[in-house]
Formats: sequence, C-alpha cells, structure tokens
Amino acid sequence: MEEQQAMDPKGWRVELNDGHFIPVLGFGTSAPDEVPKSKTVEVTKLAIEAGFHHFDSAFIYNNEKEVGQAIRSKIEDGTVKREDIFYTSKLWLTFLRPELVQPALENSLRKLQLDYVDLYIIHYPVALKPGEEILPKDEHGKLIYDTVHLCATWEAMEKCKDAGLTKSIGVSNFNRRQLEKILNKPGLKYKPVCNQVECHPYLSQSKLLDFCKSKNIVLVAYGALGTQRIKGRVDQNSPVLLDDPVLCAMAKKYERTPALIALRYQLQCGVVVLVKSYNEKRIKENIQVFEFQLSSEDMKVLEGLNRNFRYVLFKNVADHPEYPFSDEY
Ligand SMILES: NC(=O)c1ccc[n+]([C@@H]2O[C@H](COP(=O)([O-])OP(=O)(O)OC[C@H]3O[C@@H](n4cnc5c(N)ncnc54)[C@H](OP(=O)(O)O)[C@@H]3O)[C@@H](O)[C@H]2O)c1
Repeated sequence: MEEQQAMDPKGWRVELNDGHFIPVLGFGTSAPDEVPKSKTVEVTKLAIEAGFHHFDSAFIYNNEKEVGQAIRSKIEDGTVKREDIFYTSKLWLTFLRPELVQPALENSLRKLQLDYVDLYIIHYPVALKPGEEILPKDEHGKLIYDTVHLCATWEAMEKCKDAGLTKSIGVSNFNRRQLEKILNKPGLKYKPVCNQVECHPYLSQSKLLDFCKSKNIVLVAYGALGTQRIKGRVDQNSPVLLDDPVLCAMAKKYERTPALIALRYQLQCGVVVLVKSYNEKRIKENIQVFEFQLSSEDMKVLEGLNRNFRYVLFKNVADHPEYPFSDEY
C-alpha cells in the first residue's frame, strides 16, 4: 500500500502491473432485478459520501446509467474528482468476438456518460452467440455458445486500452490455465492487471492467489460476505457464511461484525475486496474495515475455515470446454 495514503486509510490502494492504482475496497453495485434502479443512484451516492472510491459494475447489471449518474453528480457537487474514482465495467459473454469488444465498451461509456473507465474486464471465459439476447438459448433451453479464442478477445481489450477508453484491462472468473493462455500469448502487449473471482473464508483461493501474486496480477474478491444468495443462482441450502460460529466468535472478540471480519481477512491476505450493500447503515459499517487489524493467529484461524466451497457455479455453462471451475484452480 502506498505510504502517502497511510494518512487516509479510506484511500488505500495498490499498484497494478500497468502503473495505475486500484483502491483496495470496492463497492459492488449489482442488485436483484426487483430492486428499483433509483435505489442504485441513491446507494452509490451514499457510498461515495461514506468514503468508497472504487465501484464495480458490468453491462449485465443493467445499472451503468444509474451508477454513472451518481458518480457524475458527486463530481459536480465537488465531493470527489473523477480521478479519485475507480470504476470497473465488464465485457459480457455475447461480446467476446474481437470486433464487438470496443463497441461494447463504448456502449457502457455512453450509458455512464464518462470518457473512460478505470478497468475493463472480461466477465467470464465463455463466449455466447452474439445478438440481441443476453442469454441466447436453443429450442431445448440450452445456451448457444460461440467459438472465440480468448487470446483474440484479449487483443481487442488491449486496443481499448490503447484507445484510452479504459486505463487498465483484466479478467474475471479465469482459472490458472486460462490466465496462462493470455500470459503466454505470443506478442502479448499488456498482462491482465487483475482476476476478479469469488473469494471468502469458505473459498480462500490460496493457490490461485499465490499464482496471481507470482505474476503481479491482483486478485479481486467478489461474494466476500458469502454472496447475495440469489435464488436460481445460489443453492439456498448452502451454508450462510456470516452465520459461521468461528466468524461470529471472532466478531465478538474484536467488537466488530462478522461481515467486517470477513472483509478485513481479504485485505490482510493481499486481496482487493468488493462488498455490496444497498443499506445505508451497512455501507457506513463496511468502511470501518480500515479501523482494525486481525492478529496473525486469527488470520490462521480464518484460513482454517476454507472448504473450497463455491456459491456461484454458473452451472448452465458447466459443459463448455472453457468452464473455469472444473480445473483444480
Ligand atoms: N465477476 C463476477 O462474476 C461477479 C459475480 C458476483 C458479484 N460480483 C461483484 O461483486 C460484488 C459483491 O458480491 P455480491 O454481490 O455477491 O455480495 P457480497 O458483497 O458478498 O454481499 C452479500 C450480502 O451481504 C449483505 N451485507 C453487506 N454488508 C453487510 C454487513 N456489514 N453486514 C451484514 N450483511 C451485509 C448485503 O445485503 P444488503 O444490501 O442488504 O446490505 C449483500 O446482499 C457484486 O455486487 C458485483 O459488483 C462479480
């Protein structure tokens, strides 16, 4: 973490392998469909006021218009400057063909009404058939795949960076093999700066994290509180992370909440952590992650909670050869 930022812990950020910086705590903006879009504007503004600098969104969240509106209004009223905000967008699966990559980013920028994003990442390493449908399906209800080489998509991502539409480029939900595909690409111009993956005490990702660290790729954690447990996406019988007795006992010991312990754990592992909350009290609470430290003994205890348990499985693409979660890591 940067020395000069130590005065203002809320501004803690780490350097990416392309020289840009990413704030270590990010605000997750995705919410279930039934949440009104006006709420996204409201909570994004609250998050900026609370001290969040890093915002995570995606084409598929269908909220870039609202997140952009909130960011621009907080710039206009003088709360923040554009350069203090780190905004991530993601390339959806139907846009993985190289010729569709830049138009997809330009579409996000139009909705955001921003000139650039800070980070653009490939959302998932599986290509779906391009077209109007976000999830194109055949008559049997099966997703229709497209054949695109990830390296070709990556070259188009590099061009977006060169065009100044994004400061940095990265990936999400890639396993080691898929990261290596990019890293070993002949003529690679830019390495991915990050890999955004599910990560929490039940899924510590220690092997993938070690690999990423060895390549100077930042691991960004989503689902750090055990995900939003959205029906149809997450098994409703899966264990509730924030009810874990060890996490709860530790929360008592530190006089914090289980959520704060789970977030702090990621920071001390050297992971950039995202957290979603659409609740004012919890948004303010989550920024307290900078106010305390876990002892190395307690970090070990939390490491011991790992059970390689993944909440988000994307089962509908499990038969695809690039399905990332069938490899060991
Ligand atoms: N790349 C990908 O494929 C991918 C996949 C999933 C998510 N993401 C990104 O990661 C972000 C975060 O992940 P996530 O959405 O799965 O959720 P999460 O951060 O694990 O949060 C899960 C739930 O915890 C609750 N919560 C927040 N703060 C809390 C606190 N202090 N105490 C108790 N509960 C608290 C929130 O509910 P309330 O709103 O009611 O507070 C939220 O619904 C997403 O918003 C998205 O930006 C990326």
